[in-house]
Amino acid sequence: MSLTIRKVAGALGAEISGANLSADLPDGVIAQIRAALVEHQVIFFRDQSLSPEDQVAFGRRFGPLNIHPYVRGMDGYPEVMEIIKEPADKTNFGGGWHSDTSFLERPAIGSILYALELPDWGGDTLFSSQVAAYEALSPGLKATLEGLSAVHSAGREYSSQGHSAQKRTSMSVAEAEGAVGEFIHPVVLVHPESGRKALYVNPAFTLRFEGWTKRESRPLLDFLFDHCRYEGYTCRFNWRPGSVAFWDNRQVWHFALNDYPGQRRYMRRVTVDPA
Ligand code: SIN
Repeated sequence: MSLTIRKVAGALGAEISGANLSADLPDGVIAQIRAALVEHQVIFFRDQSLSPEDQVAFGRRFGPLNIHPYVRGMDGYPEVMEIIKEPADKTNFGGGWHSDTSFLERPAIGSILYALELPDWGGDTLFSSQVAAYEALSPGLKATLEGLSAVHSAGREYSSQGHSAQKRTSMSVAEAEGAVGEFIHPVVLVHPESGRKALYVNPAFTLRFEGWTKRESRPLLDFLFDHCRYEGYTCRFNWRPGSVAFWDNRQVWHFALNDYPGQRRYMRRVTVDPA
């Protein structure tokens, strides 16, 4: 099997053709997909047909699958998160810049999202390279950030006031009031496979720098949150039914656009934890 890999933007993203993800792919092909993920940070596939079992089996080739602590999985498939926006819903899931599960002690390394039903227009997903965002900083700020860690928590996002938990008809999202911990991660992550550095702060889940107050942290976090979404670091994926995006949470942010009022969008995600 030979894969064709075509870059889709300058900073990140590549579309891969020649792989049927529902098949029991040889180890060599999985290794090529993994290498492409590490190099391009987010990879895309078209025209796939994945049952929940297929998606779980494909995801497990990259590591153990996460069972989300606040979003109930699909009936019979706890690792499969159904990301649904019904015509009557006002908010969508993932509708702000973030990377997945940095509120956990061991955050997800990757997420694999499969599109089943899409609106007639809109519903694209944006991705932003946190490698490019890191590399663009001055040597002085890089040196400062490399000495810092940050505190992450699900409390704000998954509380009753949070974006993810707002009332919707489509997804079961539990409220996390008081039920969550705080976890500390370095602000500059060194990728374990490539050795490349990336910024690792998260507008959804980062509360403050470790050892700093919230008020002290706010200006620098706001600067970084603004810097990290600069258009030149991004790519945009226009979904079709059967499309798959596989992103590396250690290197990218993503943002599910909510620009399709009154229409339905139905996706399924599996999330890969570190081994
Ligand atoms: C997410 O995983 O944050 C959702 C992304 C999307 O639905 O495009």
